Amino acid sequence: MQLLDGKATAQEIREELRQAVEVRKKNGTKVPHLAAILVGNDGGSLTYVNAKVKACQQIGFESSLIRYDDISEEALLAKVHELNNDDKIDGFIVQLPLPSHIDELKITMAIDPLKDVDGFHPENLGKMVLNLPCFLPATPAGILELLKRNNIETSGKDCVVIGRSNIVGMPLSIMLARNSNPGNCTVTLAHSRTKDLKQKVANADIVIAAIGKPDFVTADMVKEGAVVIDVGTTRVDDASKKNGWALKGDVKFDEVAPKCSFITPVPGGVGPMTIASLMINTLRSMELRGI
Ligand code: GUN
Repeated sequence: MQLLDGKATAQEIREELRQAVEVRKKNGTKVPHLAAILVGNDGGSLTYVNAKVKACQQIGFESSLIRYDDISEEALLAKVHELNNDDKIDGFIVQLPLPSHIDELKITMAIDPLKDVDGFHPENLGKMVLNLPCFLPATPAGILELLKRNNIETSGKDCVVIGRSNIVGMPLSIMLARNSNPGNCTVTLAHSRTKDLKQKVANADIVIAAIGKPDFVTADMVKEGAVVIDVGTTRVDDASKKNGWALKGDVKFDEVAPKCSFITPVPGGVGPMTIASLMINTLRSMELRGI
């Protein structure tokens, strides 16, 4: 069994991006500027957004964190339009989930697709399906990059993606099936109505768990030698931790790991790769706009 070390791979990517920023500075070209909007006080979302801002600082990107305890949908839309028209900002994200009085789709669709570094806008998702240049959603793109940089063959493999969320499972299932590298998998997108899930997972060469249910994937479900990617990051109470909680993946790591050829840990697997992908997209935002 080999651990897929997302933390180390993300660090490698950050170093490459840092060097690219150095070159831009030397040439007198603009340094990328990422803005992040966070609404509310959810601890998990704040941790993620802070990690994104910290990554910007390490790479040498400029960053702005825009925080609201609460905001109306109308005022948030106005802020999105302001960032769309602000030449200093190269890309921005609105951290999800948003409070229930705000329509997430409406906000996502208001973002200029050329600044949509999360790759959530329907224009970017549509281009992704057609394999056209676009921003790829950060978590799926991070998973593909992790597979690629660890020389894991995907072509012709049977892959089960568990969970059909708009930001992970759904786009990832398409990206893995596309005629690209990584890609060319035969993908099953499993969800709450899937029948015989255990059997489907047991036949898979690559299993990707993205449902947010701790310990959902158990050893009896996984084929010997499978590649297992765990996207889950649920906070569970843990008195032994300083902050009183620990992050738990969707895979019962201790019993599944011995059966795998490769497996991602939680934390330190997919999470750091998501942030690295966002940074890649932020640099690309300048290239796509010819800056
Ligand atoms: N919430 C969970 N993951 C993400 C992400 O990648 N981007 C945004 N904007 N919100 C999220």
